[in-house]
Amino acid sequence: MNISDAERIASVLESLKYQKTADMADADLVAVTMCSIRQSAVDRVHGLVQKFNEIKKKNPKLKTILTGCVLKKDKKIFIEGFDHVIDIRDIKKIPELLGAKQIIFRSFQSEAMSAKKNNLLSAPDSYLDITPKYSSDFSANVPIMTGCNNFCSYCVVPYTREREISRTAKEIVSEIKNLVKKGYKEVWLLGQNVNSYKDAGTNFPKLLGLINDIQGEFWIRFTSSHPKDFSDELINAMANNKKVTPYLNLPVQSGDNKVLKSMNRHYTVAEYKNKLKKLRKKIPNIAISTDIIVGFAGETKKEFMNTAKLFRDVKYDMAYINKYSPRAGTMAAKLKDNVSKEEKKNREKILTDILKQTALAHNKKLVGKETLVLFNENRGNNYFGKDQYYKTVKVASDKNLLGRLIKVRITETQPFILKGEIV
Ligand code: 5AD
Ligand code: SF4
Repeated sequence: MNISDAERIASVLESLKYQKTADMADADLVAVTMCSIRQSAVDRVHGLVQKFNEIKKKNPKLKTILTGCVLKKDKKIFIEGFDHVIDIRDIKKIPELLGAKQIIFRSFQSEAMSAKKNNLLSAPDSYLDITPKYSSDFSANVPIMTGCNNFCSYCVVPYTREREISRTAKEIVSEIKNLVKKGYKEVWLLGQNVNSYKDAGTNFPKLLGLINDIQGEFWIRFTSSHPKDFSDELINAMANNKKVTPYLNLPVQSGDNKVLKSMNRHYTVAEYKNKLKKLRKKIPNIAISTDIIVGFAGETKKEFMNTAKLFRDVKYDMAYINKYSPRAGTMAAKLKDNVSKEEKKNREKILTDILKQTALAHNKKLVGKETLVLFNENRGNNYFGKDQYYKTVKVASDKNLLGRLIKVRITETQPFILKGEIV
């Protein structure tokens, strides 16, 4: 979501004729899209402020803007270090802040309207309808909603991004149609909880259907999905809409019911497992990843071992393991952060070791088989990409594979990377 936000800020700045510089020291303006999920990310922004102060000694004209996910209390602190601190929902005000006279943003809605109204573009209301400056020309981030109403006890997002808002289905479909026309091979539908997507009669499973109906060869991926709202209707939509790739990130956060309750997650371990069981019945080879927080306030060793058990039972393909970081203002900040740094590290390692085994076991089944890969990176003659299952695949090639969807036969595997050859 931060990358997607940065793509919209880049678009606003481009409309003011700013160009990207390779080095921050040469810039007239730096806009920072901040993340507040963990304290370490906030600390990095403090580090940047130091850097700006040094650059400003040589380049006093440098202007700095802070936006993204910023807590109210941090806004007060960072206003000292930045020229402007603005809410992500207010990025259309950037031209005004920088003293520009008038800017009319091109939006998807207004693009549709412009055809009818002789290029008369109107300024839309939400920042999400600013046409972004996409950072890739084959894989696009498409936010469908933003904000969160869930208030998980550890999480700052409901405080930094405020309540949920959804874009209209018409606007999303129009954006994706344009992308596919331009040759994009993959769209990532983004939202803090895509399952809460709502536009009149269109919920998230129905939106998947509308996007799947767009003509062309492209993949549909989405993140993030809250298990409490992960419905049978969505399982059916994933199974029936063939452009939706067989990969799901379903953040469980903990494998212990007491911890889940304290996290305010509104599901039990059994309910979570049952949803995955139904999903695997409909889409047998689907790859599954999760997000986990280890060392949550008050998490005992026994409660953590329930998470380790869940890892062994579910056999994840991938997991994003986070060490609990207390966030001021959240409900959990009132609880004691009583698991030591070392113990959090130890719990992270235990889960990583289980994950390596389960991921490797899944990957071994792919050796000798063919899979479709979208290549997105190269180092010399080695090309890296993600296949439908969102697994990293490496091949050697003297032809440029970037941005191409290519069939690869898997020859070797490690837990988090597959090696293959082009078929
Ligand atoms: N501490 C550690 N991890 C966190 N996450 C969210 N808040 C915190 C926190 N306070 C993790 C969750 C979420 C992911 C995006 O970040 O696992 O799914
Ligand atoms: Fe944070 Fe929970 Fe909302 Fe996800 S669903 S953004 S973890 S409050």
